[in-house]
Amino acid sequence: MRVVNTVNEVRKEVKEWKKQGLTVGLVPTMGFLHEGHASLIRKAAEQCDRVVVSDFVNPTQFAPNEDLESYPRDIEHDMKICEESGADLIFHPGVEEMYCPDFSTYVNMTGPSDELCGKSRPIHFRGVCTVVSKLFNIASPDKAYFGQKDAQQLAVIMRMVRDLNFDIEIVGCPIIRESDGLAKSSRNTYLSPEQRSAATVLHRALEEGRKLAESGEKSASAVIAKITEIIESEPLARIDYVNVTSFPEIIPTEEINGSILAAVAVYFGSTRLIDNFILG
Ligand code: PAF
Repeated sequence: MRVVNTVNEVRKEVKEWKKQGLTVGLVPTMGFLHEGHASLIRKAAEQCDRVVVSDFVNPTQFAPNEDLESYPRDIEHDMKICEESGADLIFHPGVEEMYCPDFSTYVNMTGPSDELCGKSRPIHFRGVCTVVSKLFNIASPDKAYFGQKDAQQLAVIMRMVRDLNFDIEIVGCPIIRESDGLAKSSRNTYLSPEQRSAATVLHRALEEGRKLAESGEKSASAVIAKITEIIESEPLARIDYVNVTSFPEIIPTEEINGSILAAVAVYFGSTRLIDNFILG
């Protein structure tokens, strides 16, 4: 496994692989890898001949008041996880390699990016779509892997690939959880022991919401109310949103019908965690 820092080095390596007729899987990450990322890399290694992992904390998806500076970084640890999980190449560029000083081209989406996190983090998906398009152009993958923990991001990327005719298959992979149900996230490291234990309320609340919907409840408001009530019973939790939308369109819905996403974003102190389930 190699670690490279430049676009040219990735292109050169991928070109060599393609010349040999090998398929390429891309796992875009912001580093500080955990078991959730490892599962994406393993899936990519199962399905593709070669795997590229990008490890880049992308500044354009953070608003000025967000945690860009404090976002955890540990490339040595990331290299170990990548090696163990079957990656062949880590692309670990500096900001200046990805964004020249007069960078001025962005991928703007409307639709699936407007609701949920798009409301609370208005520039977030513009940054995600821009950097993921760049990574697609740099690594030319046959398949790219995204976790369902960021279900809206998965929907946004699927829409972007369709709309912009990227010849890439998007593979969504299941949420990986701690043994007490908390979804794995690099941001879990920000939590104090009390907040960490309080955060388990998210999975409990979503499981109750899921049971209600699976038992035949057709009203999204009833499912939202159930999830909200359980989260609100935890004093350290402050809700950003609890919502139910169609998936992958991400349109708020009143009726539980077809494929739906129930998603939450909740603050514990200043740490904002997201979680969800998809039905249908
Ligand atoms: O999900 C993430 O870690 C990021 O949003 C991504 C897709 C790597 C783009 O920076």
